[in-house]
Amino acid sequence: MFSRWLLIITLLVPVSACAQTSKDVDINAILASAHSLYKMDKTGANADYIPALAEVDSELFGIALVTTDGKVYSYGDVEQRFSIQSISKVFTLALALEQQGADTVAEKVGVNASGMPFNSIIAIELNQARSINPLVNAGAMATMSLLDGNETTKWQRVASWYNEFANAKLPVLDAVYQSETETNDRNLAIAQLLKAHQRFYGDVAMNLDLYTRQCSIGVTAKDLAIMTAPLANNGKHPITNKQLMSEDNVEHLLAVMSTAGLYETSGDWAYKVGLPAKSGVGGGIIAVAPGQFSIAVFSPRLDSAGNSVRAQKAIDYIAEKLGANVF
Ligand code: DON
Repeated sequence: MFSRWLLIITLLVPVSACAQTSKDVDINAILASAHSLYKMDKTGANADYIPALAEVDSELFGIALVTTDGKVYSYGDVEQRFSIQSISKVFTLALALEQQGADTVAEKVGVNASGMPFNSIIAIELNQARSINPLVNAGAMATMSLLDGNETTKWQRVASWYNEFANAKLPVLDAVYQSETETNDRNLAIAQLLKAHQRFYGDVAMNLDLYTRQCSIGVTAKDLAIMTAPLANNGKHPITNKQLMSEDNVEHLLAVMSTAGLYETSGDWAYKVGLPAKSGVGGGIIAVAPGQFSIAVFSPRLDSAGNSVRAQKAIDYIAEKLGANVF
């Protein structure tokens, strides 16, 4: 009897250990090949309309992936801190959905894609319903204005919300915050215009400042992949096991990311890669493979729509290798 069990255990243990190891090796190898395939790609340029972003080393390149069972994989410059920029819009929208409800967000901000650049003014004027997507600047500032609280309590809530997703205390990058504050005229004009259309829900200067601060939050590629992991796991954080959002709100969030996460190139991205995603002019892109993994890639050179060139290529490659296209 004993020797029969011993035989079964001897046969089973190496098989499961080996399966685990080969899965680990595969993801690590896929991240490493994405990095080596695209690290020589010099296409695009750092954002420079926020002067501090032009100073970031353009060669930085980091890739991180978190599975829905909480394993973290990474390759390259994954500990380098950079500003989250528009990727923050996803997390503030997540908070607004939880705090104000999905109907209020749809009605007061709007969720239709504009198909226009992220800082478009004409998109507001052309759209009679003034539906201003929460993932472009106009809608993101309006979303911030919709949140409860005064300057202090609102910021505390936003910061602690981001920290819960990151499972870490994230800093504000002061140099980026100052630089964007000094050059924020276009966002100010957009917010004022929304106010004139009754599509802004509080003090313009205060909410513009809070929006600028959220865009200046410093993250690493690893932080971003960890922050995005609950969106791949029905709102439950696979590392802390906390249910941060309702499943329904994750669905709403992923829908908006799918249609507007990469601005005017969102359709091309869906067609080619097939994952809900969001970019930031700091050089980061996050993407979600529901039920499987989250991924974040950082590299500062952007295409003309403001999306990191290497990050798009790396995510496309990795999603393809892992068979992650949701369509
Ligand atoms: O408001 C802005 O213009 C920036 N803080 C964020 C823009 C951005 O990241 C667009 N992303 N691709």
